[in-house]
Amino acid sequence: MPSSDVPSNWWRTAVIYEIYVRSFADGNGDGEGDLIGLRERLPYLRDLGVDAIWLTPFYRSPMVDGGYDVADYRDVDPLFGTLADFDAMLAAAHALDIRVIVDIVPNHTSSQHPWFTSALTAGPGSLERDRYIFRPASEEPPNDWESIFGGRAWTRTPDGEWYLHLFDPGQPDLNWDNADVRAEFESVLRFWLDRGVDGFRIDVAHGMVKEAGLPSVGHPQQIGLLGREPLPYFDQDGVHEIYRAWRKILDSYPGDRMAVAEAWASTPLRLARYVAPDELHQAFNFDFLAAPWSAAELRATIDACVEAADSVGAPTTWVLSNHDKARHVTRFGSPGIARAAALLMLALPGAAYLYQGEELGLPEVLDLPADARQDPVWHRSGGTDPGRDGCRVPLPWDASLPAYGFSTTGRSWLPQPDWASLAASSQQGVPSSFLELYRTALRLRRTFTGPLTWNDSPTDVLDFSRDGLRCVVNLSGAAVPLPTGSVVLASGDLPDGTLPPDTAVWLR
Ligand code: BGC
Repeated sequence: MPSSDVPSNWWRTAVIYEIYVRSFADGNGDGEGDLIGLRERLPYLRDLGVDAIWLTPFYRSPMVDGGYDVADYRDVDPLFGTLADFDAMLAAAHALDIRVIVDIVPNHTSSQHPWFTSALTAGPGSLERDRYIFRPASEEPPNDWESIFGGRAWTRTPDGEWYLHLFDPGQPDLNWDNADVRAEFESVLRFWLDRGVDGFRIDVAHGMVKEAGLPSVGHPQQIGLLGREPLPYFDQDGVHEIYRAWRKILDSYPGDRMAVAEAWASTPLRLARYVAPDELHQAFNFDFLAAPWSAAELRATIDACVEAADSVGAPTTWVLSNHDKARHVTRFGSPGIARAAALLMLALPGAAYLYQGEELGLPEVLDLPADARQDPVWHRSGGTDPGRDGCRVPLPWDASLPAYGFSTTGRSWLPQPDWASLAASSQQGVPSSFLELYRTALRLRRTFTGPLTWNDSPTDVLDFSRDGLRCVVNLSGAAVPLPTGSVVLASGDLPDGTLPPDTAVWLR
């Protein structure tokens, strides 16, 4: 925990910045982001004004799924550095009052994890196989479940048995009815808490427990990563017992440690169960990310999410982009809308999650060459789904350097487009830039408190107040008069006392 800090439920209002470690900053010149590179860039994050960073997995991994296939939960992959590099980065972050959240991947391990390799060797019926979801040899797979990355969710072992993998065959699902599995993850949590991390992001938090008997779904095209249909492999009631046990562990440590669920449930109220007072602290709010740029839909989403979180006393979270979704500049089709959406999100009560590069206004890279792409989604769909590499292109730091300063040698594991004008160095100190908009917004945001109240507004205009703030966003096709009050920040020009379309303003 940062030394200067008193425990205060910091996570309730925090801005948490997601770092896709491989693409953030490369400290050793191999073209892959790493923990040394991240440590060197921490002052940038302090200046941006974030409260915490969330690091995607940096553990030992064959990197079949960018590190979400973990072979050793207690060590750093050589690609990213060493445990000593992690400790040094953590200490440096805390010295700057930045908290650090790490990613825990409990639904599956890598197929290279010693548990899985020994399960294969030990054979059918063994205790080793009981840690995963194996089913007896048969011609047909045990049920019709599909992998979220495409194709079926079962793969055959050489002895004919099937094993379940909701993601890639290199990511076998664990059996959470097995006591070893529960004990192991409790120990992994303690390992990182003992090192001083401030919390965890829990990967596929709705997936660990499967419906008894593993019933078929009954139809194809079951789900993308985040869907709404109730499914026998997601959001089962049994998962909550795991989180109640984890919460006790988190609470047994000093310093306000927290956990955020990457969970998807059929309704906001079912999602709220993950953040009951004796479970996790937060859950990502993907409804907001998925909402179209429509005043009615955004308002309905905001209200439903605030109400659901209030029902259990948890804060809402807001997110526009992450390492699994096309960047929102491209999703919205306009940098101007992305700027307005950022001011909307950052004015809302609760915690906000930013994804590296959104503060630079980076778009999705749509034209990566096929031979550069690495996402299993691309490979398993036979190239019909471009996958997620386009939001994972290494960051441009300095317009004047090779690879825009991402690495010391100019190498980059994914090719970067012409990003000179979007590099941090090109935006720094330029008042109209994305970077300065985010910096100012993060600074001002700390002065807003309290719940949100909607004000009367013209059609397709969102207008709400909190203590210290009035936020107005024009989603209609025509300019509207600017409400009275002094403007403290705007996402675009405000000509002649009007708020143009696709523009947001903060007033006092
Ligand atoms: C992560 C993805 C990953 C998947 C499997 C997701 O929730 O965000 O990047 O591919 O889990 O671990």
